[in-house]
Amino acid sequence: MGVNVLDEIRVTGGRPLRGNISVQGSKNAALPMMAASLLHRGISVLRDCPKIADVYCMEEILKELGAVSWWKGKDLYLDCSRADKTEIPGEKTGKMRSSVILLGAMLGRNGKGAMGYPGGCVIGKRPIDLHIYALRSLGAAVREGEEDISASCVRLKGAKVCFPKSSVGATEQGILAAVLAEGESMLMGCAREPEIIWLCRYLKGMGAEISGEGSGCIRIRGVRELKGGDLEIPADRIVTGTYLCAAAATRGKITINNPPAGEVDAFLKVYRKIGGQYEWNSGKLIADGSGVGCPLPYLETEIYPGFPTDLQSPLMAVLATIPGKSHIRENIFEDRFKLAGELNRMGARVTVSGRDAWIQGTDSLTGCRVEAEELRGGAALILAALAAEGETVISGCSYIRRGYEHICRDLAAVGGRIEEKTGKVLYENIQIQEKNNIN
Ligand code: UD1
Repeated sequence: MGVNVLDEIRVTGGRPLRGNISVQGSKNAALPMMAASLLHRGISVLRDCPKIADVYCMEEILKELGAVSWWKGKDLYLDCSRADKTEIPGEKTGKMRSSVILLGAMLGRNGKGAMGYPGGCVIGKRPIDLHIYALRSLGAAVREGEEDISASCVRLKGAKVCFPKSSVGATEQGILAAVLAEGESMLMGCAREPEIIWLCRYLKGMGAEISGEGSGCIRIRGVRELKGGDLEIPADRIVTGTYLCAAAATRGKITINNPPAGEVDAFLKVYRKIGGQYEWNSGKLIADGSGVGCPLPYLETEIYPGFPTDLQSPLMAVLATIPGKSHIRENIFEDRFKLAGELNRMGARVTVSGRDAWIQGTDSLTGCRVEAEELRGGAALILAALAAEGETVISGCSYIRRGYEHICRDLAAVGGRIEEKTGKVLYENIQIQEKNNIN
């Protein structure tokens, strides 16, 4: 499959953004729904599905298992009638973190599954012990090999699963495995992120019996089979936050046409603290960043409903434009400050020690050559570049494609001076390009 790869982005900064933006569908909601589609032997539809590299990657993996897929405009159709293969090679799973939740779906469907270990952005250790714990609790025999992991069962059995730590992926794994299990399951210590609620909404539309999603305790009564899924993917809360950060970094004013209401509250609270203003009007979110200028004495990333780790880098880019000292503590992923060095090249002074970053911002960031090292950090560099004087050339930005469908087009439409150099390459080439930077 051919996809556009963002090779290099050139940004000429210094102009406040102004205008309206519509936000793409959510990556983190779409991926587990794609995995859930494997639980029905027929056609499922994901409406308004984002056309991003991670979705294409998951589509490729499902095809590897025997699924047939096609797009009608922005809707992704997945026909899993014959998706009965139970092995996914490591070169496919290594491209993305979310591949691991297919294990629960394969177990639910066919009682067995084997795969290479999942990849993902290099932002910390990212173990999968909680995923394995959930599957074992539900009766699967799991073997962790050197290079791959396999699991099998006769039929999964409903059980109590008590997560010692909140994990979005492990909660999704538990849900996917439990919906077709025999009997009732009670998942405790579950993640409460909106994407869990969206996954459950999708599965309930397929006939799954689930209650309690959005709380720490989810109850599932297993059913024998599920029908096809059909749901519109919600607007992406992280992309929404990224675009609001772009407005803040440039002291601009933008309107988000389709914000995911209720999912961006923690971000908006911080937006206000740094001097931004916003109002809701007929479902739109009007954000005025012209008054942004207050450093942030302390902010920590937290599980939902706290400030999301995925917006930590975009926020850091904004703080780099605010004279004074800000402090961020990253509680979710221990190695998520790769952006710091690049911001320093642009004139900020960011000091990192373990999970803490102190940001000495400046109102005179200067454009230069920088390199994206992961998805959200890459997007954050675009924001810093929009605020900087002169031209910034961002390389290594193919990862931005993992999660942002049209970041350059969207920000250019509100006045950003952005040029993207894309190359049409075979999907496999992305793998080569990114093999050292697993997301
Ligand atoms: C998901 C999101 C990602 C987001 C993250 C936290 C998707 C596709 N990705 O990632 O964008 O940044 O939630 O909101 O939805 N952990 C363990 N053992 C496990 C699993 C996780 O210790 O088995 C730890 C992780 O190392 C991390 C924490 O739990 O410190 C949270 O990770 P988790 O919520 O699982 O993140 P992901 O599902 O990978």
